[in-house]
Amino acid sequence: MERKRVGIIGAGVSGLAAIKACLEEGLEPVCFEQSEEIGGLWHYTDDGGQKQGASMYKSLISNVSREMSCFSDFPFDKHTPPYPSHTQFHQYLQQYCNRFDLRKYITFNTQVVKVQRAEGFVEGEWLVNTADAGTDGTEARQHVFHAIMVCSGTYHQPHIPSFVGLENYQGTVTHSQSYRTPDRFQGKSVVVIGAGNSAGDIAAEVGLTASKVYLSMRDGVWIFPRLTRSARPLDLSISRALLNVPEFVTRNYLKMLSRSHINQVNYGLDHTKDPFTHGFMVNDEIAFRLASGKVLAKSDIAEFTRTGVKFVDGSNVDADEVIFATGYDVSFPFLDSDIHPSSLQDQELYKLVFPVHMKKHTLAVIGEIRNRGGASPVVELQARWAAQVFQGITQLPDHHTMLEHVRRDRQYRDSRFGPNKLPVVDLRYTEDIARDIGVKPSFWRLVFRDPSLAFLTYFGPAFPVHYRLQGRHSWSGAAEYAKTALLNTYSATRAGRVQSRSSSQLKVNSLITVLLVCLIVAVLAVIVMIKI
Ligand SMILES: Cc1cc2nc3c(=O)[nH]c(=O)nc-3n(C[C@H](O)[C@H](O)[C@H](O)COP(=O)(O)OP(=O)(O)OC[C@H]3O[C@@H](n4cnc5c(N)ncnc54)[C@H](O)[C@@H]3O)c2cc1C
Ligand SMILES: NC(=O)c1ccc[n+]([C@@H]2O[C@H](COP(=O)([O-])OP(=O)(O)OC[C@H]3O[C@@H](n4cnc5c(N)ncnc54)[C@H](OP(=O)(O)O)[C@@H]3O)[C@@H](O)[C@H]2O)c1
Repeated sequence: MERKRVGIIGAGVSGLAAIKACLEEGLEPVCFEQSEEIGGLWHYTDDGGQKQGASMYKSLISNVSREMSCFSDFPFDKHTPPYPSHTQFHQYLQQYCNRFDLRKYITFNTQVVKVQRAEGFVEGEWLVNTADAGTDGTEARQHVFHAIMVCSGTYHQPHIPSFVGLENYQGTVTHSQSYRTPDRFQGKSVVVIGAGNSAGDIAAEVGLTASKVYLSMRDGVWIFPRLTRSARPLDLSISRALLNVPEFVTRNYLKMLSRSHINQVNYGLDHTKDPFTHGFMVNDEIAFRLASGKVLAKSDIAEFTRTGVKFVDGSNVDADEVIFATGYDVSFPFLDSDIHPSSLQDQELYKLVFPVHMKKHTLAVIGEIRNRGGASPVVELQARWAAQVFQGITQLPDHHTMLEHVRRDRQYRDSRFGPNKLPVVDLRYTEDIARDIGVKPSFWRLVFRDPSLAFLTYFGPAFPVHYRLQGRHSWSGAAEYAKTALLNTYSATRAGRVQSRSSSQLKVNSLITVLLVCLIVAVLAVIVMIKI
């Protein structure tokens, strides 16, 4: 029988996961990538990848630890440190491509210019126009597909808000998208606008050599370090057990954690919302930059002057440069708005993947999310789900049920994060998709098979590999890997100094660590409850 052809737009993390998921389900993936390399924004170039849109800066280090940001059936190699640099992450993606032979499904330097319903073909099929990247698109080629996975990323179009007087400002204005290195800011007075991770990283880096950096935020910010005091990745505390802890306990615990890293009031960072309902910053350097006076937190900007900015608190500063670290606008220029609009408030995606209004669900949007944790495991589950739906293995609910779900989900998100924000997803979301496709690890099924594994899966860090323990396309190495993942976090940093300790000894140690973490979480929960 003819294999269904799936058109995949983009070969970043989402696109690679999509190709792999199609292959697993017996679909034929055809991926178009406008740049000359895989990896999307993890493919660093000094010029910011003219053809690729999204980009990273030279010093960028992942803010999610390696074991929490890998694909479920492909761990990082033992040379990767707990927090990979963009180069190491890109190498990982290259290794993933090689291991599963994904490159042969990608056509590089090819831009998708239009995706339309294929009138006159079988219902649900799609017509895709592609052109050589960098051309005006008039010499387009046409392809017909049974289904489409949109994996084009969400960080292409810089968001530059308008401010009074900006047009008269005579200094240099840039967006964080084009930031690469701090070299040209030496000795200058710089304003960085925003309170996200880009703002934090750039302010901290530029603050090393600039004469002064002013970090302008419209509210304050919650800052979390990557590491605990014992240099253990903080994100290894994310466990399934925590999903059953009342939210007010976790919320207060998070606040305590952030305050123990940096007292917000002392540094002018105090915030009106809590870290659950607002984006937070993951940053290990900014606290000291603030403490050493190299960076100063400021309020929102009231207006630009000819030589600098005036803040809403009435103070003025002169600035040589202003960097807008104000995020991105989502855009799907190749899709008509009746298929999937770029405007977030007009979108209706069932569980953030399937446009609900389609008669046949042959189009999926992968990665239009804001992840709290690694992106790879989330987009991988989305892609696995989409491939199963395209192949008819998993059914979606009826139109009315999906629409109701979208409305409730929107209401919930708007009330927490405010309208028009890229949807924030966490472990609760991945567990939900995993349940839909039958790969959510079940404590009770595992406990009879392997009690220590069941225990680790529930109380230990929620590693992506847990989604390969059971169900379709489970991985025979998953159980063994799940037991050693905690230990593997440090494989590169322990380097040659562990010969004297056997690996079983280390496994026991990591089990004890998990037990201790569980105990600490339980004790903290009790303390927080008593304080409240
Ligand atoms: C500065 C920065 C740092 C980040 N750090 C982390 C981190 O530490 N950990 C983490 O998990 N996540 C991080 N993220 C989130 C990041 O979005 C995800 O990790 C992940 O890279 C998203 O992958 P993607 O494939 O969805 O999108 P992208 O990486 O943007 O890839 C999209 C691909 O689609 C291609 N494309 C787009 N349009 C077309 C078209 N019309 N035709 C053909 N090809 C097209 C692009 O060229 C690109 O290769 C970071 C994001 C940013 C901006
Ligand atoms: N080291 C790393 O791994 C790393 C580094 C950088 C970025 N990233 C990731 O990259 C993605 C993008 O991050 P980002 O920081 O570029 O964008 P972002 O997270 O969207 O943050 C944008 C910031 O700009 C602020 N902002 C927007 N409009 C504004 C306005 N009109 N006036 C004042 N402030 C305004 C936002 O404030 P509000 O919150 O009030 O809207 C927010 O603080 C995220 O997923 C992030 O985690 C990771």
